[in-house]
Amino acid sequence: MNEFGLSRRDFFLALGGGMLAWPRRLGALELEWGRTGGRDQAFWEAVRREFLIPPDRIYFNNGTLGPQPRVVVEAVAEHARGVAATLPPRVSWDELKSSLSSALGGDPEGYVVSRNTTEAMTVVANGLELGPGDEVVTTDHEHIGGLSPWELVTARRGARLVVAHLPPPPAGGAELADAVWRQVGSRTRVVSVSHVLFTNGALLPVQELGRRCRQRGIVFVVDGAHPPGMFPMDLAETGADFYASSPHKWLLAPQGTGLLWMAPPWRDRLWPTIASGDWSTVGAQRFNHVGTMDESRLAGLLAALEFYRTVGPDRIWDRIRELQARLRGGLESIPGLQIRSPSLEQSAGMVAFRLPGVDSLSLQGHLSRVARVRTRVIGEYRLGWMRLSTHYYNQPDEVDRVLELIHRVSREGIPAAGGL
Ligand SMILES: Cc1ncc(COP(=O)(O)O)c(C=O)c1O
Repeated sequence: MNEFGLSRRDFFLALGGGMLAWPRRLGALELEWGRTGGRDQAFWEAVRREFLIPPDRIYFNNGTLGPQPRVVVEAVAEHARGVAATLPPRVSWDELKSSLSSALGGDPEGYVVSRNTTEAMTVVANGLELGPGDEVVTTDHEHIGGLSPWELVTARRGARLVVAHLPPPPAGGAELADAVWRQVGSRTRVVSVSHVLFTNGALLPVQELGRRCRQRGIVFVVDGAHPPGMFPMDLAETGADFYASSPHKWLLAPQGTGLLWMAPPWRDRLWPTIASGDWSTVGAQRFNHVGTMDESRLAGLLAALEFYRTVGPDRIWDRIRELQARLRGGLESIPGLQIRSPSLEQSAGMVAFRLPGVDSLSLQGHLSRVARVRTRVIGEYRLGWMRLSTHYYNQPDEVDRVLELIHRVSREGIPAAGGL
């Protein structure tokens, strides 16, 4: 047996016989779904066993990086072994793009694979013809990965970056759209916003902004680092000219897997940032010509898309929201604790909060020390919020344990390092 439980015979069959090992695990999960009748806890416990997260580890930071399920790790490893054995490549662009399209919407031809959202946003900012005096409107809640490409390009080309201030929570929906739109003027060439804010999980009304941009002939760019894999979606319906994402977050693809979908007119017009064969032709596929790359990531992305389909986009979103509701309910019952996210309905799978008098970094260290909880502190923009992400592999008792610990800190403060 090797480390993935494959016998020598299976391993060589997998390499030589065109038979991949990982899809068999998906079949087993489907059987489990039938056996447990779906929605119940037994199914989610079976799903959790498909992850390598140690049982005593509580991972509430999917917003930074998603843990890869076993099938993804296996697909990457199998592909890497195939390359080492000089076998022909297993991942076809057509298969990958049609799989992305059926999971996330948009037509297959619009898909480009990148290393992450940052790279996809850079390809967009760098490839547009911005000139002196042009304006790019963004918000004061953008992640550096969606912001820095605009900072760089506007600085270099003499254009101006205009930053809309988003009103503090519980603002959501129309209020956020209006806050962005107030900064749009006659020189605005681009509006670039996050679909889900990394600071507090707020959902931005991208469809409404997309509609307004289209009416004014403004390029609309969506930093969609979070939604793919988190909720059922059609990225083309946002009205985005460009939609950038990181499937290594909620879609649980291999680390270093990003994507960019571009609307039809741009596939022929955007300037490529990396030039290789076909750079001067037409179509989005020319953006996938970036020299030799690690295609095992693509094999992993394909497996992640299959896993996503098997677990079920609706079930996943229901589960994320159930866990968020449990977490929010508990946080709201802690005296003094301030939630910094909009309502559950206007938020995605992340909640941000602060405990007055408690430094969030100290709270983070405490949770990690006493219960191996992994969290994210939003230090950006001097916010100092603690952010907790819940994904479907998380369990209700993990939520309860973290709530109990925060509750205790709210009453007793943080004990000196080493104490409980
Ligand atoms: C909204 C948003 N945009 C962009 C990024 C950057 O993602 P990546 O590091 O995958 O490029 C992140 C990462 O957390 C994010 O939350």
